[in-house]
Amino acid sequence: MNIQKIILSLCAAAIALSLAVISVVFIYAPPKPIEVKTGVINDNEYEPVKWGQLYPLEYDSWVKTKEPRKSGKSEYKKGWDDDGIIYDKLSEFPYMALLFKGWGFGVEYNEPRGHHYMMIDQNEVDPSRLKAGGACLTCKTPYADKLARETKGAIFSAPYKDAVNMIPENHRELGVACIDCHDNKTMDLKVSKWTILKSLETIGHADCTKEQMRNVVCAQCHVTYIIPKDAEMKSTDVIFPWKGGKWGNISVETIIANIKSDPSHNEWTQAVTGFKVGFIRHPEFEFFTANSTHFKAGASCADCHMPYKRVGANKISDHDIKSPLKEDMRACLQCHAETPEWLKERVVATQQKTIALMNRSGYAVATAAKLFELAHKERDNGKTIETALYDKAKDYYLEAFYRCIFLGAENSVGFHNPPEALRIAGDSVAYASKAEALLRQGLSKAGVEVPLHVNLELSKYINQRGEKKLNFRPEQEFADPTAIQDTLLPKEMKGL
Ligand code: HEC
Ligand code: HEC
Ligand code: HEC
Ligand code: HEC
Repeated sequence: MNIQKIILSLCAAAIALSLAVISVVFIYAPPKPIEVKTGVINDNEYEPVKWGQLYPLEYDSWVKTKEPRKSGKSEYKKGWDDDGIIYDKLSEFPYMALLFKGWGFGVEYNEPRGHHYMMIDQNEVDPSRLKAGGACLTCKTPYADKLARETKGAIFSAPYKDAVNMIPENHRELGVACIDCHDNKTMDLKVSKWTILKSLETIGHADCTKEQMRNVVCAQCHVTYIIPKDAEMKSTDVIFPWKGGKWGNISVETIIANIKSDPSHNEWTQAVTGFKVGFIRHPEFEFFTANSTHFKAGASCADCHMPYKRVGANKISDHDIKSPLKEDMRACLQCHAETPEWLKERVVATQQKTIALMNRSGYAVATAAKLFELAHKERDNGKTIETALYDKAKDYYLEAFYRCIFLGAENSVGFHNPPEALRIAGDSVAYASKAEALLRQGLSKAGVEVPLHVNLELSKYINQRGEKKLNFRPEQEFADPTAIQDTLLPKEMKGL
């Protein structure tokens, strides 16, 4: 080989190497939109149209959350598609109708739809869902913070309709707006709700980097919360159950410990068991950040739900926030070199396994709940159930119940953190089985015969719900894809 050839091949190697480096950078760090121009947006400007005058492309994409999505793209998140069907979570997971009997979630509980609808949906849902009053506005209207300050907290317990009337008339249907996520001067990401600010302090993480803010803006609302009640069951505040947690580790155990730490956190009474219990709502942020592969790899909510998008000569973050499946995995392709089909298959495979274990946990918890119902009936008839067995069974039951409803409320059906979903479901099943065993023992010691399979009588809970008289819709059920469930609880024992 002469010297020229050596130099040439060295050059070729160098070029190949730098191309490889570039492609890795492209695969793992999508280039960001170019420098934004900042104009003048007045302080406390709530009107998105005004922000849109300076940032028309982001505004146009934000407006699109009003439009229905193409149907047939997602297996398990069909909330708001052009098939026009409203998906009923209680039909998808019939055990939830039994567990939530006793308050609004057991009456009407739908899959989420686009951000445009967050205030509108509150008007359309069964009124039993709004009993908590103005507290419900915390995650819905951009005015929540202002109203909480101006009314010194009175807004929380105000009847829902009165609270809505405190919002300026033209914005009573306005959901999450530019001002919720952006600083009006710099356009940097910013949060201002007292709930998230206090909670970040609680976990010792008041200062977030720019990258972390791409999760934190969503954590204003996509988190679970507690509405503490006073002696008359009036709402007094909205808090996040994060005490004892850390950035990257707000576990389901931490959340349950916080709920159990104070009786004011028991927001409702579960009809079947008569227990006063708390609740868990949409814990996307806690679940995703609990050491998931994508969180550890530096991915954020915005990466998957607001992918960069070319509009003419510009590149923007897509503010038409939605499931990545409804845009053929475009968001994933920013980082992954696999095909959209491969990526979708990965999502659905994870979700199917989660659905199987959610069924396992849901029916195990529902069975234990029915045994408590039986135990209470027998107690009223004069039978004595041994206290030690009963108390331990109740402890285990609550641990199982909260884990079960955590998974039911999390909106990705396991994808945000696959192994964590299975861990939580597994623990829920273990706790529920212990509760059932202890109750069976207590009941048989008291001379009560317990049948081999407990009939759940689901049709009693799932039909004729609320003012709309909602019924079970069998075609929407997410049954266990493995059919193992039917070997544990024969179908007829569901009582559907
Ligand atoms: C002010 C509260 C709030 C903030 C902030 C917020 N969301 Fe939401 N989000 C909601 C509510 C409420 C819904 C359900 C709306 C409904 O069904 O009426 C929702 C729905 C969604 C949906 C389902 C959309 C659909 O088409 O079905 C996705 C995805 C989503 N949010 C992701 C995000 C991401 C990502 C962020 C951060 C960039 C974010 N949200 C910030 C409150 C919020
Ligand atoms: C690695 C990509 C990824 C990240 C990061 C991610 N998500 Fe998701 N998210 C998904 C996928 C995939 C689904 C399932 C969508 C489906 O089945 O149609 C989903 C579902 C959702 C849904 C329900 C969507 C619907 O149509 O009803 C919400 C809400 C949501 N995510 C919010 C968040 C929030 C908030 C964060 C950050 C805390 C986050 N996601 C982080 C990929 C991601
Ligand atoms: C739920 C939170 C949220 C809301 C509401 C929101 N944005 Fe954003 N916006 C983001 C995120 C996340 C980014 C990415 C920023 C980053 O990574 O620095 C962004 C980026 C931007 C940028 C920078 C350029 C770009 O496209 O990345 C502009 C400009 C912008 N948004 C304008 C708006 C306008 C105008 C509105 C109201 C119509 C709005 N945003 C509403 C979360 C939000
Ligand atoms: C911001 C970049 C980014 C985005 C966006 C992203 N991923 Fe990933 N994903 C990663 C990284 C980094 C890993 C870690 C493994 C690796 O290096 O490949 C990963 C891992 C995975 C894995 C293997 C996970 C495991 O636990 O073994 C799957 C499956 C996956 N991603 C699917 C998706 C899907 C589906 C989407 C879109 C909904 C998506 N990813 C969006 C960067 C991303």
